[in-house]
Formats: sequence, structure tokens, C-alpha cells
Amino acid sequence: MIILEDRQALNNWVEQSRLWGGKVGFIPTMGALHEGHLSLVREAQKTCSQTIVSIFVNPTQFGPGEDFNQYPRTFAEDKALLEEIGCDAIFLPSPDVIYPEGGQTFVSVEPLASQLCGASRPGHFQGVATVVTILLNLVRPHVAYFGVKDYQQLTLIKQMIRDLALAVDVVGVPIVREEDGLALSSRNRYLTIKERQQATALYKALMAAKSLFQSGETEAIKLEKAAHLVLHESGIEQIDYVEVRHKETLACDLTVVDPVMLIAVKIGKTRLIDNMVLSS
Ligand code: PAF
Repeated sequence: MIILEDRQALNNWVEQSRLWGGKVGFIPTMGALHEGHLSLVREAQKTCSQTIVSIFVNPTQFGPGEDFNQYPRTFAEDKALLEEIGCDAIFLPSPDVIYPEGGQTFVSVEPLASQLCGASRPGHFQGVATVVTILLNLVRPHVAYFGVKDYQQLTLIKQMIRDLALAVDVVGVPIVREEDGLALSSRNRYLTIKERQQATALYKALMAAKSLFQSGETEAIKLEKAAHLVLHESGIEQIDYVEVRHKETLACDLTVVDPVMLIAVKIGKTRLIDNMVLSS
């Protein structure tokens, strides 16, 4: 496995990988890798001849007072995990490789970027859209893989790729969960034992809404109330949102047809998100 740190080295690797018509699969990450990230790499390995993972804690997607400085940086462990599963390359840029001095351009996907997580994290999705565009332009993959766990991010990236006619296919890879339902996240490591227990309420809340929907309830407000109740019962008080939206567009509807439920809460100091398509 090769580690590429600058644009020239990356470009040489990309040229080489594309030379014989090989398919390049790309997994953008911020490191602190877990089984969820590894499932993206395994998915890429099914159809791509070369897989490359980027590890870059992107400063522009963190707001003031967010966890940019505390975000776990675990490169030695990440490298060992990727090596073990046969990943071909890691792109490990420093901030000036991604954002050379003098840059003036941002990518904004509105109004998708300013709702749900974007409402409480202003600028977050502009940072995500910008860094993903830069990474895609540098890596030039055939396929890029993103976790369904970040549902709004995935929806926004698909929209951006359509709007900007970027020549890449996007694959969403299902959420990997612990046995008790907690979705894997790099931020789970911030949770205390008590908070970790409380965090299982997100999955339970989603399941409550799903079972209500599948028994015939289609009023968004009632589905959201059912999930709220489960979160309150577990003692989670800092609920950012519990929303039922259209699963493709994230549009709001009073009566839902093909819905996804999205949840964001804070447990202690840790922000957690989860989601579930209620019809599947
Ligand atoms: O999902 C993430 O880890 C990040 O938002 C991404 C897509 C790597 C962009 O920094």
C-alpha cells in the first residue's frame, strides 16, 4: 500500500492506475477508521481494480467551537487497518495541498445545505461540498463511496455531482451497526459508558417510527412524535431534530409516501446522527 502526500505523487498514481483501463474506487474519509469505513473499502474492492482512501480532517467543515482540534487522529491504526484489508493507496494531504494559498472558491448546494444538520452547523455542508469537489478533481475516480450514515451528506453530494456534471458514479453504502443498534461513528469514542448506553435510543427511536409507518401511519408528525418519545424516555434532552423527509429529495411532506427518518441529538458533548428508510 502506497501513501501519497502531494498532488504530484497522487497524479502519478492515478495516471498509472488508469493506464490499463482499470477502475479506480475512492473513499474519502477523515480518518479514525472503523468497520463502517472498511465496509466502504470492501464495497469498492468488489468492482474496482484499485482502491484509494483519503484521510483529511477538513477544517472548512467544522464551525467555531466544534471538535476540529479534538477530532481523533489515529493514522498508525488507520494505516494498519487499510493495509490488512488490501487497500491500494492512501491519500494523506496536508491542508495546503487541498487548499493552496489564495483560494477563493467554495461550492454551495442550496437549499439542501442549510436544513437539518446544516441549520445547526452553518457552513458545514459548504465545507463538505468544497472538499469533496477538490478531492474528486484530484483523485479522478470512476466511483466514489460514501456511508448512508451521513444521509444528508450523501444526498447533497449526489445533487452536487448531478448539478456540476462531475464524471463520477456515487455509491451509498449501508450503515454498519453495533449489536445493540448503535450506528458506528468516529465520534462514538467520545461517549462515557452511561452516554454510550443512552445512545442506543437513536436506533430504538428509528425502529419505533418504522414499525408505526409499516402498520399504516403516514402522518409525519405522528411518526416524529413516536421517535421523540423514545428519545425522551431514555433521558436524551438535547434533540436537534427528528424529521421525516422524502428519501430521495429530503423534501418535507405532511403525509409521507417514501420516507426516511433523520435524527440528530447531543449526548453530553457528543453530537450523534442516525437515519432509517422507513419503508424498507
Ligand atoms: O464523511 C466524512 O468523513 C467527511 O464529511 C468527508 C466526506 C470525508 C469530507 O471531509
